[in-house]
Amino acid sequence: MTFEKNILCIGAGYVGGPTMAMIGAKCPQYKVTVVDIDMNKIAAWKSDSLPIYEPGLSELVKTTRDRNLFFSTDIEAGIREANIIFVSVNTPTKTFGQGAGKAADLQYWEKTARQILANSKDSKIIVEKSTLPVRTAKAMERILNGNSEKIHFEVVSNPEFLAEGSAIKDLENPDRVLIGSSETEKGIRARKEIVDIYANWVAREKIIESNVWSSELSKLTANAFLAQRVSSINSLSALCEKTEADIDEVAHAVGMESRIGPRFLKASVGFGGSCFKKDILNLVYICQSYGLNEVADYWESVVKINEWQEKRFIQNMLINMFNTVAGKRIALFGFAFKADTGDTRESPALYITRGLLEERALVVISDPEALGNAKRDLKDFNENLIFTEDPYEAARESHAVAVLTEWRQFKELDYTRILNSMCQPAFIFDGRNILDHRRLFEMGFNVFAIGKAPLKHF
Ligand code: NAD
Ligand code: UGA
Repeated sequence: MTFEKNILCIGAGYVGGPTMAMIGAKCPQYKVTVVDIDMNKIAAWKSDSLPIYEPGLSELVKTTRDRNLFFSTDIEAGIREANIIFVSVNTPTKTFGQGAGKAADLQYWEKTARQILANSKDSKIIVEKSTLPVRTAKAMERILNGNSEKIHFEVVSNPEFLAEGSAIKDLENPDRVLIGSSETEKGIRARKEIVDIYANWVAREKIIESNVWSSELSKLTANAFLAQRVSSINSLSALCEKTEADIDEVAHAVGMESRIGPRFLKASVGFGGSCFKKDILNLVYICQSYGLNEVADYWESVVKINEWQEKRFIQNMLINMFNTVAGKRIALFGFAFKADTGDTRESPALYITRGLLEERALVVISDPEALGNAKRDLKDFNENLIFTEDPYEAARESHAVAVLTEWRQFKELDYTRILNSMCQPAFIFDGRNILDHRRLFEMGFNVFAIGKAPLKHF
């Protein structure tokens, strides 16, 4: 079968895999190939057990795989064949040298650019799918178009806004698709080609076109604004705990205001995920490098409040459990950074677990999807750590339960059974405010939620 276009995606991760599966499903006229340096990941994409968990993903992959969606480790052949190359490699925070701890580490990105250059025999459109510092497209173009052949690479920015756990829904029905390019004739032509891909299923008025720098910066800004809302509500949760105001009631009252809106106002143990912290720190670094220190400090405070919120959660556990958790069994309900994903990157649960282990607690972790990642994350801790899928088993003989991920399953457990299996007095720390606190208190639990007055029997 001949296809209208050959699309390649370099990077088969949380973004590359689902995004290409959606393009493949909505555009049977295109051949879509996803490549990665990680052989195991590609093998998993070709199997029945995909490397990531997303509701609806396996069904989507099943209908498209080997029809017009292909997974491969042959990056060079993929580059040679492609007309359009999406680059979706990871762009973590730099851990070394200048900008360590803040700047984006662009080494994978640059390697990819050089590999594209080395293996291309004709002109191509290169799409920045990864989240990148504003003005990266400039560097990318310099590397790519520094070739002696008469090949032209047009770099287009098309940031991804999907959230994990709802990736398929977000891809199928996005709030908007953003495509930025240079304002030259070639740039605008390349932009139109990317618009044409999305126009196969996204309403035209939801596809926004902009200059390439606005597109790059809009992605960092969107994540910064979302994280800022969580830090704003979390900062006030501390004030609620002191004043008997209830943070969920405050969020509801404030969110009803149409200029503010109700979403992303759920107080929690803190935000996690691979991107919020990294993207804000990246923004902070860029601002600092332009001498905009006040702007940098403003955004950095969003990350600082988040770290404080996580720390506060542990301190609250310690203080309320008579200032010691040493030797006490503590059940953690949830390890993923949010519900409906197995991803544990930057999960508040990681920080809480480490803190409790330092206090010599015996930590029992239960999560329906994230135990594999949790074990990998905590492989350096050999003692005082138990993993179990069964939350009842986790809670048995424990002194406290801490809810760290808002999995629906945790709301539906038989808490009388849990209470009866625990050491007394039994504590619940609800880091997601998902449980019925009054009912638990009446059952006999001592209940500590985020941004609410404690409910305790002593
Ligand atoms: P990921 O780590 O899940 O996937 C990246 C993949 O790229 C890995 O499988 C890695 O092996 C591969 N890779 C790295 N260098 C490579 C190379 N030279 N050649 C081939 N493959 C290579 O990362 P992700 O979560 O998919 O994120 C990718 C980008 O998308 C990041 O910039 C991130 O900020 C952004 N983003 C992520 C999300 C999300 O929800 N995870 C959402 C929007 C945007
Ligand atoms: C986030 C953005 O929502 C996506 O638009 C973006 O594409 C993505 O980052 C990215 O660039 O990687 P994601 O990290 O998958 O998506 O998940 P979110 O739903 O944004 O949640 C992030 C964290 O904030 C989670 O730990 C979540 O529990 C927490 N959160 C969210 C709250 O504590 N309260 C809220 O009200 C909302």
